[in-house]
Amino acid sequence: MFLCVRRLAEKHWNSSFRCMSSTARKRRAPRCAFPVLEQPLQPIHQHVHDGNLRNSNACHQKYMELKEKVRRGGGENAVTRHTQRNKKLLVRDRLRLLLDDEDFLELSPFAGLGLPYGDIPSAGCLTGIGRISGLWCVFIANDATVKGGTAYPITVKKQLRAQRVAIQNRLPCVYLVDSGGAFLPLQSEIFPDKNQGGRTFYNEAIMSAMKIPQVSVVCGSCTAGGAYIPTMAEETVMVHWIGTIFLGGPPLVKAATGEEVTPEELGGARLHAEVSGCVDHFAREEKEAYDCTRNIVSTLNFQLPDEEEEVKKAGAEEEPLYSSEELLGLAPRSYNYSLDAKMVISRLADASRFQEFKACYGKTLVTGFARIRGHLVGIVANNGELLYQAALKGSHFVQLCDQRDIPLLFLQNTAPAAAATLSTTQAEMNSNRLKAQGSMMSAVACASVPKITVVIGGCHGADSYAMCGRAFDPNFLFLWPNARVSMVAPGHSSSLLPPGGEQDDLNEALKEESSAFFSSGRLWDDGVILPQDTRKVLGNCLDIIKQQQYQLPTEKRRPMLLRV
Ligand code: COA
Repeated sequence: MFLCVRRLAEKHWNSSFRCMSSTARKRRAPRCAFPVLEQPLQPIHQHVHDGNLRNSNACHQKYMELKEKVRRGGGENAVTRHTQRNKKLLVRDRLRLLLDDEDFLELSPFAGLGLPYGDIPSAGCLTGIGRISGLWCVFIANDATVKGGTAYPITVKKQLRAQRVAIQNRLPCVYLVDSGGAFLPLQSEIFPDKNQGGRTFYNEAIMSAMKIPQVSVVCGSCTAGGAYIPTMAEETVMVHWIGTIFLGGPPLVKAATGEEVTPEELGGARLHAEVSGCVDHFAREEKEAYDCTRNIVSTLNFQLPDEEEEVKKAGAEEEPLYSSEELLGLAPRSYNYSLDAKMVISRLADASRFQEFKACYGKTLVTGFARIRGHLVGIVANNGELLYQAALKGSHFVQLCDQRDIPLLFLQNTAPAAAATLSTTQAEMNSNRLKAQGSMMSAVACASVPKITVVIGGCHGADSYAMCGRAFDPNFLFLWPNARVSMVAPGHSSSLLPPGGEQDDLNEALKEESSAFFSSGRLWDDGVILPQDTRKVLGNCLDIIKQQQYQLPTEKRRPMLLRV
């Protein structure tokens, strides 16, 4: 039921935002001078700060190692085969030609690393949000150096997540298709279930019906399932010689009929542009295809604000009073090393200004308003355990932001273990807390405004649901590299199991499985971001979320029925 309420509410947010007249949009927001959060680092914080900093530096090193691993894609041989034998551009070079600039938001770059079936760099497919002809678009681009761009279970999950990002934020979606279809040895985990391969095509239709434009570029093979992505997109470009679309390739034709055909004859760009009509634009080479795609995006008929207005907005943004580098010493290496959440807020908010809400009540949760790169947001930040009063306050504040159409930012650092029930007083406290947390969860689930979650420390137990964890469907969820994600934190499982070997094993497993990189490898989030980059990432996300107001509103509830 909550989901229905939430969907209705989301619809309301989307439509009311988009229907706003341009005059209303041009009206100035009231001036604000929120109080400045004076939160310098004090000598008393030194010990905790230094411990956190050492841990952050170690995490940073791991982050850089994984980044390098991902950058190498499928390895040297595969890169040579891709560029020299197959004469194709590498996926990052393709993005360079497609996007306005290199300042794009890559989603889950570490997805696919450390999986039971091996390391699949970038999950075989890069996803993210970048500007094309001035418009923020989601891109989903296969990396054919990783096993011919075939889809592993994690690839499918990553594609579906990128489509969900496009749906939730109403962003046009561009597919660069270069894929051998399903990775056959794992077909049972790719093909049959609801959120598996077929869902990508289902989403394409649903997105079109929602007026979320989709464009595809065939810049490699599109075999089997891969063939439906370009044929279901609203507009498709195909590159001569390197692009092919067919359900079964030449070897299959030979086996079935004995006939020998070349890939080009069977499903090349000329055939599909001139005979089958499966594609709409023929490009002689890759660069031409991306130029063509940029032109297509410029016909999507969004009315973006003038550049002058953008420049004015950028000029009005004030940096925080404290260096973002100081966040490295605030990123808790464990829950016990958490410093006041306001210290983090003061290093993220414009001019470190914050209008706190209910400052004297439920102090283990900090709530209030700030601007981040010019965008007004409601911030909800853990500052201790999510106790009864804190959860009630959270519930109130979330509803307040929903009422005022203000996006929510959750800074999550939840307690490592649930409170034990050792006495009747404790039982009563726990029951009250349970009720208040339930109420906060309902408020978060049903809030129609965009939500962004950054796990800055712990993501443990039920508190993490109320703080808009993955199951609560935030528009974006990022982790700092020091973050820990697990039901119970390492070292806190003693109340769950009797002492002995099992407990040690569990602790060991928790240590490994709760790391931010383990989580990101499995795509439980949208990526690990560095603390010092958080303000920039949040600014981009808020710009991205806002773009939907520039799409001209029209009623349309049917997908385009294409190429029939
Ligand atoms: N499942 C599993 N592995 C696959 C695969 C698939 N569907 N398609 C390709 N691979 C693997 C290859 O075995 C090879 O692995 P290796 O590097 O360990 O040797 C790697 O991907 C690259 O394939 P290769 O054929 O050497 O590269 P290529 O650039 O010449 O061709 C394809 C790439 C995708 C065009 C070609 O491999 C192909 O047509 N594959 C079959 C596609 C298909 O029929 N899919 C049906 C899915 S339902």
